[in-house]
Amino acid sequence: MTNELRYDGRVAIVTGAGNGLGRVHALLLGARGAKVVVNDLGGDVHGGGKSSAAADQVVAEIIAAGGEAVANYDSVEDGDKIVQTALDHFGGIDIVINNAGILRDSSFAKMTEDDWDLIYRVHVLGAFRVTHTAWPHMRNKGYGRIVMTTSAAGIYGNFGQANYSMAKMGLIGMANTLAVEGASKNVLVNTIAPLAGSRISETVMPPQMLEALKPEYVAPLAAYLCHESSKENGSLFEVGAGFHAKLRWERTQGHHFQGKAFGPEEIAEKWAEIGDFNDATYPKTIGESLMSILQGVNSPFGQGN
Ligand code: NAI
Repeated sequence: MTNELRYDGRVAIVTGAGNGLGRVHALLLGARGAKVVVNDLGGDVHGGGKSSAAADQVVAEIIAAGGEAVANYDSVEDGDKIVQTALDHFGGIDIVINNAGILRDSSFAKMTEDDWDLIYRVHVLGAFRVTHTAWPHMRNKGYGRIVMTTSAAGIYGNFGQANYSMAKMGLIGMANTLAVEGASKNVLVNTIAPLAGSRISETVMPPQMLEALKPEYVAPLAAYLCHESSKENGSLFEVGAGFHAKLRWERTQGHHFQGKAFGPEEIAEKWAEIGDFNDATYPKTIGESLMSILQGVNSPFGQGN
């Protein structure tokens, strides 16, 4: 048996922790010694309504198991209030799991601006507000662990989820830059793309699949990424049903015209080469990306001469 990873003395915010994945993240961290702010607006899966019951129930479960927790019922759109709850009750903030989420699925043709806007506000603006308020506290302390929750719909696209895909891919972009900005202060930011049976996924998954996908199979990775022993930063993981894997960008060797004139015809001629993933590369940073684009180019602003 490996040594138990503990979170004693750490303060964690888990957003949307009244149900599904967030609930299990909160229970796990609470059982391992973290002081947990259980945030949940208590609305329905489409973002309607409001109730304190969901967060209260999870707080009661954590306390009954011997842990420490406090409820917060604000929307993540008021993320500053959620962080304030952590500061008021526990005197600091070490861990944020941005997990709150809703769906407003619709084919793109039928999607309204409200569908687009609400999904943006809960997923992207909400994660921004919580994280942005927690950020200076973490940087000043020289310690922070942040997890974003994306989705396969964001990474790969999914019919009827243009708004959700936009938001979920936005979180990956935000995490990538926060990982760069936070690293020197030991504030590490990673992203998980979970698959789990919950009220959000029961709308898009068959019942037998939901049974195989317990939220309990996702929480250990989120908790590990929030542990002080984890030095992982700026990474993206797919997780569910016991499966854990890391994703990265892959780029073809491509074709560089190196200063030669080219138009759409030359692009067409080199199309197979541009798309050939043999000997692919895996740029990890913006620097690595720029390096091969600028390879053999004397001036970054000209066509080379
Ligand atoms: P869920 O519906 O069971 O739980 C989400 C919780 O977030 C709910 O308790 C809800 O009240 C809360 N919430 C919604 N809007 C909020 C707001 N404005 N402020 C505070 N709390 C709010 O859903 P589930 O499946 O546990 O989802 C958790 C996260 O995982 C979401 O971000 C979702 O997009 C993401 N996800 C889930 C997948 C799955 O297979 N379950 C797949 C991919 C991503």
